[in-house]
Amino acid sequence: MKRILVTGGAGFIGSHTIVELQTAGYEVVVVDNLCNSSPIALERVKQITGQPVAFYQVDIRDRKGLEQVLEAHPCDACIHFAGLKAVGESVEKPWEYYENNIAGTLVLLDVLREKKCKNIIFSSSATVYGDPAEIPITEKCPKGQCTNPYGWTKSMLEQVMMDMQHADKEWNIVLLRYFNPIGAHPSGTIGENPNGIPNNLMPYVTQVAIGRRPELGVFGNDYDTADGTGVRDYIHVVDLARGHVAALKAIDRGCGLAIYNLGTGHGYSVLDVVKAFEKVNGVKVPYAIKPRRAGDIATCYSDPTKAERELGWKAEYGIEEMCRDSWNWQRKNPNGFEKQETRG
Ligand code: NAD
Ligand code: WQD
Repeated sequence: MKRILVTGGAGFIGSHTIVELQTAGYEVVVVDNLCNSSPIALERVKQITGQPVAFYQVDIRDRKGLEQVLEAHPCDACIHFAGLKAVGESVEKPWEYYENNIAGTLVLLDVLREKKCKNIIFSSSATVYGDPAEIPITEKCPKGQCTNPYGWTKSMLEQVMMDMQHADKEWNIVLLRYFNPIGAHPSGTIGENPNGIPNNLMPYVTQVAIGRRPELGVFGNDYDTADGTGVRDYIHVVDLARGHVAALKAIDRGCGLAIYNLGTGHGYSVLDVVKAFEKVNGVKVPYAIKPRRAGDIATCYSDPTKAERELGWKAEYGIEEMCRDSWNWQRKNPNGFEKQETRG
């Protein structure tokens, strides 16, 4: 297996995955409509790896566009990151989420089978477990009720792909359920670049630390957890990216349908993250306790042993490296990709 189509490759996880793919010797072709990313991310990838990335500004709902890309560059497998991912926005604009994520993926799947590229890795999410029936969460844990349309798009697309693989055994389909990706490439040249007010914890923490926002709101301190704040399985984005390279090897072996949690297996509370960030980086993160956020659960962390057993993949970085690399990226790029890098 040589050439990989990466949808959504200019985004946070996609850009880090391209670095790992190129480093592992794969050739990469990217389609991204840039609705939530910058082409500068791909220039930075090239700086890191020294290898060019074939990039097409194409929407995955654009059948002709996808066909042309795959005719110019026949691919052996697809890693499918493209999608809208803001939980709150999906509640406000459900149709837009179902249309972009579901209609887009249906077009992509149809073009892939037409072009005889029946190998796909899909970016799913721990959100498909809903309020999980067991902790730590294994892949056998039943899927649950999602609390937002974004989550349902992941859950429904998993079902679509499972049914397609059941009907046509030529497909190899790997569903990767990510836990909470944070961190950035250690070079500090690529990282997470949210638009507007960050929804997720780590980008909010880094923006407080750099002085763009006065304080972090901690959403609830009355959960049934050690310190009362929500517990999550944060995973370094470089580890997550390497999980995709491991999953490609499973596809090479003809895995059929396979589902893996990608997490570290460790749960950290909001206050654990704040404390680790302050300690590693020597900066203060002022915070205030706020009411719970609608739809949040108390605790969510993975049992990642299936991925280790079957893929030989295991997260290597801990919370300190995650905090260090998130801060390194934020400091070097206080305004994300759009403004000149500064060093502090
Ligand atoms: P991101 O927004 O940084 O990357 C997604 C990319 O897809 C963006 O570059 C965007 O421009 C592109 N895109 C969106 N719709 C498109 C379309 N119709 N056609 C072409 N390109 C399109 O997000 P990310 O954090 O890198 O997430 C990547 C994938 O992983 C997403 O599918 C997301 O739902 C999933 N995921 C993310 C997390 C997380 O916490 N970041 C957790 C679990 C799963
Ligand atoms: C983590 C913890 C918050 C922000 C989301 C999606 C999930 C997946 C990953 C895509 C929680 C608390 C947060 C803040 C806070 N994404 N928090 N103050 O909610 O676990 O998962 O991203 O698939 O689908 O739901 O991540 O980073 O938003 O929150 O106290 O300003 O931090 O309550 O306990 P979450 P998160």
